[in-house]
Amino acid sequence: MPRRLEGKVAVITGAGSRGPGLGNGKAAAILFAREGARVLCVDLKAENAEETAKLIAQEGGEASVFAADVTRKAGCEGMVKAALDRWGTVDILHNNVGIESRKTLFETTEEDWDQVMAVNLKSMLLATQAAAKPMVERGRGAIICVSSVAALRGHGRTAYAAAKAGVIGFVRTCAAQLGPKGVRVNAIAPGQVWTPMVESVGPEMREKRRTATPLGTEGEGWDVGWAAVYLASDEARWVTGQTLVVDGGLTLTTR
Ligand SMILES: NC(=O)c1ccc[n+]([C@@H]2O[C@H](COP(=O)([O-])OP(=O)(O)OC[C@H]3O[C@@H](n4cnc5c(N)ncnc54)[C@H](O)[C@@H]3O)[C@@H](O)[C@H]2O)c1
Repeated sequence: MPRRLEGKVAVITGAGSRGPGLGNGKAAAILFAREGARVLCVDLKAENAEETAKLIAQEGGEASVFAADVTRKAGCEGMVKAALDRWGTVDILHNNVGIESRKTLFETTEEDWDQVMAVNLKSMLLATQAAAKPMVERGRGAIICVSSVAALRGHGRTAYAAAKAGVIGFVRTCAAQLGPKGVRVNAIAPGQVWTPMVESVGPEMREKRRTATPLGTEGEGWDVGWAAVYLASDEARWVTGQTLVVDGGLTLTTR
């Protein structure tokens, strides 16, 4: 059976994990490579991306590392150029990057807001502008942006929720503009996934997060990664502008 991303070139932002363990970006990078893609692992911290690339190489996959700050235009243009120089094309952009902020309305400072908006939303614009150019020239491509169920539920994480809701709006406008040019754009809204990003919540909250879902099981980076594989693959050739919620059913509940 052919692999689902055979021969494709993927750029993944935030492809490392902030700590030991498996984040969403790292899992997606590994799964993309297992499915036959050549993967450019982009991260602010080269060592984080190197760890992911090493795991891919150990499995016989092909990955390269590019250190960049994706809140900067030069960083985004640089990563796309690196993929083009190395492999001649960019078929998939996985805009995974994101930082957490749990601050409420009155706790959120102007600096917090600007930082969360820059990493979680502005990076989507800059990376998409850079990667969509060669995709439009070739008349095909798939872009995925990571949102969150925080965009869909009411709770205290003000800047985070606003940025992640912005991601969904961004995806819809891009999908409408790029659809006629052969480029699909979709979002994934992960639920309360257990990744290094949320390790600071502690064991009690971890258990609460698990039991809050109708499925009663804990989500992990692989769950979000598989959703990204689907949206990146030709299996999703007629899917654009959508938000795939991967949350164990959390958004069905009122908790
Ligand atoms: N874990 C959850 O419960 C959960 C839920 C919903 C959504 N998400 C989303 O999943 C995505 C991230 O998941 P992860 O598990 O891979 O996170 P992670 O924190 O483990 O890894 C993110 C990586 O991004 C890198 N990074 C940070 N700022 C950067 C920048 N400006 N430029 C380039 N790289 C940068 C970090 O160095 C890190 O290696 C985020 O968009 C997050 O909001 C997570």
